[in-house]
Amino acid sequence: MKREFDIKNPKLADGGRLRIEWAEQEMPVLRQIRERFTKERPLAGLRMAACLHVTTETANLLHTLQLGGADVVICASNPLSTQDDVAASLVTHFEIPVYAVKGEDHATYYQHIYAALDTHPHMTMDDGADLVSTLHKERPEQCSEVAGGTEETTTGVIRLKAMAAAGALRFPVIAVNDSMTKHFFDNRYGTGQSTIDGIVRATNILLAGKNFVVAGYGWCGKGLAMRARGIGANVIVTEIDPVAAIEAVMDGFRVMPMDEAAVIGDVFCTVTGDMNVIDGPDFEKMKDGAIVANSGHFNVEINIPALEKMAKGKRKMREFVDAYTMPSGRKINILGEGRLINLAAAEGHPASVMDMSFANQALSAEYMAQNSGKLEKTVHRLPEKLDREIARIKLEGMGIHIDTLTEEQQKYLTSWEEGT
Ligand code: ADE
Repeated sequence: MKREFDIKNPKLADGGRLRIEWAEQEMPVLRQIRERFTKERPLAGLRMAACLHVTTETANLLHTLQLGGADVVICASNPLSTQDDVAASLVTHFEIPVYAVKGEDHATYYQHIYAALDTHPHMTMDDGADLVSTLHKERPEQCSEVAGGTEETTTGVIRLKAMAAAGALRFPVIAVNDSMTKHFFDNRYGTGQSTIDGIVRATNILLAGKNFVVAGYGWCGKGLAMRARGIGANVIVTEIDPVAAIEAVMDGFRVMPMDEAAVIGDVFCTVTGDMNVIDGPDFEKMKDGAIVANSGHFNVEINIPALEKMAKGKRKMREFVDAYTMPSGRKINILGEGRLINLAAAEGHPASVMDMSFANQALSAEYMAQNSGKLEKTVHRLPEKLDREIARIKLEGMGIHIDTLTEEQQKYLTSWEEGT
């Protein structure tokens, strides 16, 4: 494999290594998998290309895959999420080629994806499906070299399922996001905490008493609404799905369309996975000083091009805050260029939830290696048995014990003769 890389500054490596070690302490499941991988080497001889956020948690995953025998390369899955010290440490201390620089432009982002694909991977590991989609669109001839892939996010899984439905997917992919030990925890508690963290680090505003609008009430939206309420904000939810909307109402939130929320919101955050959720007409209605952020995967949820056209000027107030001045003189503040604020302005989900998500990634890679050539070219789930095993190890790591069914209870649950 080519040993090239593109990172910001190798001198940042030592600081990165310490932070990687810090995260590792909160990742008992991955540590246990790592121990087994070191002995069993289930990924021996496999070239893996990962397109993930380059964070301390990801570094721990890559090291686990490496100890499992894989030859790993990584490129960024978002131009703003790279932690440059981690990138430096991966190259310097772990000899893992990294193509990622925080703040890279669009062209560089894609050059980095091409560099990862130049290694001719046998397996892909995606966060948002950019690697798989670039491979299919621009290098279809390379698809036959790939035994399979894994995908981390809701957004990526939606893209891949669309590819599979159209008969376009040329190798099997495991939807890590669909595991219970992923979306129940990472999407909810991870997004909830890290999004508040990102908004606060970017702005240093007090959230107590603010009208906080959460667009989307999927797992990410549920987590964000819960945590925004916890910090004292008045939370308003916007939705398009009637079931999710009722759930939000019964969870105690105000629910209304975006064009009503736009008038009263102080802080807005999109977590829908769809585009133009906050659009031109919404900006027309917002209060002076409104703060608008996104924590969904792509930077399409806020229609920033429309805002650029409407505004008569723009000033960078703080590192991740652009204040747009509207013709009336009102200011609208966009955080992190509309990119996922939890990774742009903070450090993404804390290690303890990434532990379970990345345990799913590591076990999916192993499962894919064990079943190479046997899986249909569609989107799969990690078998439930492995998903539950991750939960079991996590509980063990937390020092928490639970009950087990008695034989009598087990029988009761599997019989149909019992009645009133
Ligand atoms: N996605 C969300 N948070 C993350 C983190 N800390 N590391 C990698 N991917 C993430």
